[in-house]
Amino acid sequence: MAIDMGREVTLEFIRVTEAAALKASRWMGRGDKEAADQAAVDAMRGMLDLVSIRGTVIIGEGEKDHAPMLYIGEKVGGGGLRDPKVDIAVDPIDGTTLTSKGLPNAISVIAVGNEGTLTSFPCHYVNKIAVGPRAKGSIDLNDPVQANLERVAEAYNARPRDLTAIVLDRPRHSEIIEQIRETGARIKLISDGDVAGAIATAMEDSGVNILFGIGGSPEAVLAAAALKCLGGEIQVKMWPKNDEERRKTLDKGYSEGDIDKIYQTEDLARGDSIIFCATGITGGDFLPGVRYEGNVAITNSVAMRVKTTTVRYVTAYHNLDIKTIPSRTEAREIEI
Ligand code: FBP
Repeated sequence: MAIDMGREVTLEFIRVTEAAALKASRWMGRGDKEAADQAAVDAMRGMLDLVSIRGTVIIGEGEKDHAPMLYIGEKVGGGGLRDPKVDIAVDPIDGTTLTSKGLPNAISVIAVGNEGTLTSFPCHYVNKIAVGPRAKGSIDLNDPVQANLERVAEAYNARPRDLTAIVLDRPRHSEIIEQIRETGARIKLISDGDVAGAIATAMEDSGVNILFGIGGSPEAVLAAAALKCLGGEIQVKMWPKNDEERRKTLDKGYSEGDIDKIYQTEDLARGDSIIFCATGITGGDFLPGVRYEGNVAITNSVAMRVKTTTVRYVTAYHNLDIKTIPSRTEAREIEI
C-alpha cells in the first residue's frame, strides 16, 4: 500500500505552526517584531527536524545570506531515504507588527506539497485578487475592479453594494479603494496579514467576499495553498516595486511576458498533494490566538488538504510544566 504523505504527516505540520505560534505569542505586545519573528523561526525550524520528510524550503525567510534558518533552498525535516521529498513554504508569523502590537489576526502558517509543486516569485510583491468557492471562476485580475465586483456579486446572487472587499491599508491602494467605494461595496481595511485576509474570502461566516491589492509574494503562495484546499481562487501578477527590481527580475531569467502574466491558483500550488496548516498567534477572525490558563497554553490551529478538502480544526492544551520545543539556535529543548 502506498503511503499517503498528506494523511501521515498533516498533524505533524500542525505541531510545527503550534510551536511557532507558542514562541511568537510570548512576544505579543512587547514592541519587538524582530524578536517575535526570530522566536517563531527558531521553533518552526526545530520542530521541522522531527517530521519524517525530506523538505526543501521554497518560501521562507529569504536568501541564505540574509537568513540563518528557513532560508530558501534549505533542506529541512528528519526524513530518511524512504520518506517523501517535499516543497515547504513557511511564514512563521504573518503579521509581525500585529504580534508586536498585540493586534488581532497574526497567524503562523506552513504549506507543503510534493517536490516541484510550490512556486516562488523573484519580486517582493504581487498584485492579488482572491475569492472563495462561490465566486470561483468569476474574477480576472486584468479587469477593472468594478467588473470583478459585478461578476462576484452575480455569483453571490447579490449586488456589488452587498459585498465586502478586504484590502491592505496602504497608500498604494488609494485608487483600488476609490474604485471599490464607487460601486457601493463595503471595505474592510486591514493593517497587515493578507494570508488570513485571502482565507477570509473562503470562510462562509467571515462576511468577506473578495480580496484586492498588492501584498507579499510569499503570502500569495501560502494563500493559494489554503484557497485550493477551500475551493477558492487567487490570481496574481508580479509587481516589481521599482525599475531596479524589474531589472533584477529580468536578470534572473524572467521575461517581460512573465512579469505581465497572470498566475492562477494552480500555478502557485500545483496538484492535489498540497497541505496547509496555520495556528493563531493573536486572536482573530480566522483563528483564536494563544491563551494561557495557569500552567496550560491553549492553541487553535487548522489543517487542510487539497486531496480530501477536509478542514480540521485542532485545539491543543500544552502543559507548560513539562512541554519543551527543540530550539535550533540553542541546540537543545527549551521551554515554551
Ligand atoms: P510580516 O508579518 O512579514 O510583517 O508581513 C505582514 C504583511 O502584512 C503581509 O500579510 C502582507 O502580504 C505584507 O506584509 C504587505 O507588505 P507591506 O507591509 O510592505 O505593505
